[in-house]
Amino acid sequence: MKIIVVGTGFVGLPHAAVMAEYGHEVYAYDIDQKRIDAYKSGEAAQIERYVNEPGLVSAIHETKDRYLFFTSDISDVADGTDIFFFCLNTPPNRDGSTDLSYYSNAAHTVATLLAKRQDKKRVVLVNKSTVPVGTARLLQNIMNEHGVENFGVASNPEFLAQGNAIEGSRKPDRVVVGADTEEDFQILRRVYAQFVNHVRIRYLETTPETAESIKYVANNLLLTYISFWNGVGARIAETFPNVRMEDLKIGVTADTRISTWGSYVSNGAGGSCFGKDIQSMIYQLNQAGRRTDLLQAVYNINEYQKTYLIDRAVHEAGFSFNQKSVALLGLAFKKRTNDMRDSASLKAVESLLAKGVREIRAYDPLAEEAARTYWFNPEKNHLFERINYFDSAKEAIKGSDAVYISTDWEEFRGLSHTINTTVKPPYLVIDGRRMIPDYQTLVERGYDFLPVGGMFLAGKR
Ligand code: UGA
Repeated sequence: MKIIVVGTGFVGLPHAAVMAEYGHEVYAYDIDQKRIDAYKSGEAAQIERYVNEPGLVSAIHETKDRYLFFTSDISDVADGTDIFFFCLNTPPNRDGSTDLSYYSNAAHTVATLLAKRQDKKRVVLVNKSTVPVGTARLLQNIMNEHGVENFGVASNPEFLAQGNAIEGSRKPDRVVVGADTEEDFQILRRVYAQFVNHVRIRYLETTPETAESIKYVANNLLLTYISFWNGVGARIAETFPNVRMEDLKIGVTADTRISTWGSYVSNGAGGSCFGKDIQSMIYQLNQAGRRTDLLQAVYNINEYQKTYLIDRAVHEAGFSFNQKSVALLGLAFKKRTNDMRDSASLKAVESLLAKGVREIRAYDPLAEEAARTYWFNPEKNHLFERINYFDSAKEAIKGSDAVYISTDWEEFRGLSHTINTTVKPPYLVIDGRRMIPDYQTLVERGYDFLPVGGMFLAGKR
């Protein structure tokens, strides 16, 4: 099949590479020439500046110039294409609705080309990005406006998690295809031939609107799990003595009806999807005059969680942040990424600065550059001058009065040793990710310990 992937970010690029691995002729198209040049160069460092996913670079090396081609101009290659996959940014607007401007610009570009094509064979236009319910119809209207003939629209949402985009594309747990006609289903079956009738992969064919809804319901439910554990399970363990969080999780999730995913309590879920998708669904339902109490509560609980431990430090540990130096460990929204979109660290920094800290000593193995350029840029806000960056957790902790663990980087599991050998009590350890299993040793040695999903423990002094 001849495929054009429109948009080569975190979704589009891995998808293009994996489709090429399966022997399709794939053109990965982006309007950003710098990106395309980086991908064309084939150099790992250049590619990873834009998309950093395990296995991506080797998948590109295996297929580039044989099955996979990069281009910032599709006018010459559009003819004869079977499928266009739209993989574009759909960021949130201020009111929670979805900004479809990138998406609709791309759709108009494609429509203009398709209206002029020489061949009139069936072409299917597929949405992979998360888009509001009904966007496939919008795409249909755009194509009609331009007089495109013999086309179909479909929704084929992606369910990839960051850090697992290549493996997730090669072995998805399900492929959801929403289309209108048997002819279009057939074309998609040929594209996904290796997944149709697979023993472990669910291949679901449905309407475009159902496919669009599946993506929202899935992400909203995943965030509901997390918020349930943060807002109920963790709260209980933080309130009543002798409730052990890990045992609570095991005891509850042993029931096969209850998901284990989401039971990892934290200082709030971040990333580019959960917050955006729940706000968008709230907006879409509200627009239709529907109540959205549960979704609103889930969203609020998750946002509250991002600064909750800092407030607990004040109220339960009696810690005043004013003029203190705080080590902030982890900036990315989760481990193994440099992505800080909606990260809990953004809210934590805001809260710490508002509480008058003298200095934030930040460390993240991957996200420092993103933090300096996009987020905590002193040119945007002079208070960010109070953030200093260090090359290790140990350096960040040196000379601080408290440490706040914000991201679940594996290396933070050994932190009790680092704390022990670097700072002396009184010292407050705030564990937003339950990264310190041997916290008792710290408490014995006089360090104060405040975890998510556990009571405050004053150091023995
Ligand atoms: C999420 C979904 O997991 C994917 O299924 C979905 O396809 C994707 O969004 C998307 O819509 O594109 P992702 O944002 O990469 O994927 O990240 P997750 O691994 O789900 O983590 C999201 C946040 O929740 C992170 O901050 C993570 O640390 C936190 N989390 C996750 C918890 O706090 N507790 C948990 O038990 C699990």
